[in-house]
Amino acid sequence: TAGGSDAAKRRAGERAAEDVADGFVVGLGTGSTTAYAIRALGRAVDDGLEIRGVPTSFQSRQLALEVGIELTDLDAVDGLDLAIDGADQVVDDADAAAHGALIKGGGAAHAREKLVDAAADRFVVVADPSKLTTRLERSVPVAVLPDAHTVVADRIRDLGGEPTLRDAGEKDGPVVTDNGNLVLDCAFGSIDDPDELATRLSAIPGVVEHGLFVGMADATYVGTDDGVETRHY
Ligand code: A5P
Repeated sequence: TAGGSDAAKRRAGERAAEDVADGFVVGLGTGSTTAYAIRALGRAVDDGLEIRGVPTSFQSRQLALEVGIELTDLDAVDGLDLAIDGADQVVDDADAAAHGALIKGGGAAHAREKLVDAAADRFVVVADPSKLTTRLERSVPVAVLPDAHTVVADRIRDLGGEPTLRDAGEKDGPVVTDNGNLVLDCAFGSIDDPDELATRLSAIPGVVEHGLFVGMADATYVGTDDGVETRHY
């Protein structure tokens, strides 16, 4: 995802890694901000921290292996202690019902991310200030079964959205997720009620998962130029 300084991302990621204690099962999110958390956890493991990680994507799995974090699977553990994950947008308005709601899926990993983040006792978002917004307004990534993309696209239009099949470029064709699904990026403009839209999207047959994460995050660590700000929900 474009925008946001690397220093701010690093501060947020490293702050989240500090919340990991010995014996934890940790959800390892996807993206450049979470990568800083995973690298920090790798250093802590070198220093003796004993944890197991549940990756949310091919990329986070590769990085975790590279830095020496022992891996496990969702079906091999009895829940997770903590999940650390990035976001494409975070509602930052303490007066709004949607405070702390997220759009995720910029890396097409949101189906596994939602599964893992939802299984954790505590879900912490790591972000830089460019992610904060008063209203969610980015396109909502919707993972769909491959042969469902045209019928789902029609239903998205019925809901007032403008779907675009995510493409990796002329030669590579459509983006295929780790689970073999396609992604429709759905522009709804400024989203008045993310909770209601989330319910409507989930109800469409052929939708595997959408990138609206409403009422899921427990906190956001926002890396800034000189520190980390915390939002609790
Ligand atoms: C992956 O599908 C997304 O949900 C990521 O978590 C999101 O794109 C954050 O990535 P950055 O930290 O690189 O912005």
